[in-house]
Amino acid sequence: MKTVLITGCSSGFGLETARYFLERDWKVIATMRTPHEDVLPRSDRLRVLALDVTDPESVRKAVDTAGPIDVLVNNAGIGVLSALEGISMETAREVFGTNTLGTMAVTQAVLPQFRQRKSGVIVNVTSSVTLKSLPLLSVYTASKAAVNAFTESLALELQQFNVRVRLVLPGRAPETRFGENARPRIQGGIPEAYAGLAQSVFAGWAQSSAVTRALDVAEAVWRAANDPSSPMRIAAGADAVALA
Ligand SMILES: NC(=O)c1ccc[n+]([C@@H]2O[C@H](COP(=O)([O-])OP(=O)(O)OC[C@H]3O[C@@H](n4cnc5c(N)ncnc54)[C@H](OP(=O)(O)O)[C@@H]3O)[C@@H](O)[C@H]2O)c1
Repeated sequence: MKTVLITGCSSGFGLETARYFLERDWKVIATMRTPHEDVLPRSDRLRVLALDVTDPESVRKAVDTAGPIDVLVNNAGIGVLSALEGISMETAREVFGTNTLGTMAVTQAVLPQFRQRKSGVIVNVTSSVTLKSLPLLSVYTASKAAVNAFTESLALELQQFNVRVRLVLPGRAPETRFGENARPRIQGGIPEAYAGLAQSVFAGWAQSSAVTRALDVAEAVWRAANDPSSPMRIAAGADAVALA
């Protein structure tokens, strides 16, 4: 029986992915900043552990407690939507700290066991905004594009140890808590000079019917984890697939 460790399982894609692997008889280590066992079905194959990807001690403790795993899914992430002029450097650091450095930190903690066992899969969840740029997402896009570049280089480094690395690129998913969780980061609102641009971006989103469901992402992560012939970049969701 295989074991997957997933970051950011309190909601959205991480929660759905944890459910998806549980339903397919995997052992699931669902990690969350604040553990809530009750968001997932009861199972003796489920462990819920605390893990904040920005806290080195928390990363170390979670990976030590988890023990041997077969697949790591770096899903935890945060968003910010505004013009660059409206984003403080503190917020930019927070976004990179979670999305980019958090992914690197958890990967680094898991790698020794993968390398020694000469097996393992790392799946990094980035975004379809790295396939087609959108305005007001410069900082967020940069944080995810960095993960794409990191992942594609790392894959070459780890080939010799039979460790596979993949990217899952979801499209826009209004069903998750992503937008709501990003709101505190744009408390000052979008700067007035960009209000017209923002209106046209929001109007475009309101019109587009193709979106990504959490289930699309769980399926893409499953494919990345189980299919060695899967491509490096796997688009998830109708909108992302159209862009790819
Ligand atoms: N929704 C979209 O439109 C969309 C599109 C493309 C890509 N993505 C990416 O998909 C991933 C999942 O997003 P989602 O849509 O499922 O959003 P979500 O519902 O907000 O879920 C994000 C998860 O990440 C966790 N998280 C945030 N900061 C963390 C930290 N420092 N340490 C550990 N966990 C942390 C959150 O935990 P808390 O509950 O503790 O905050 C939450 O469980 C993210 O990487 C996101 O960038 C989202």
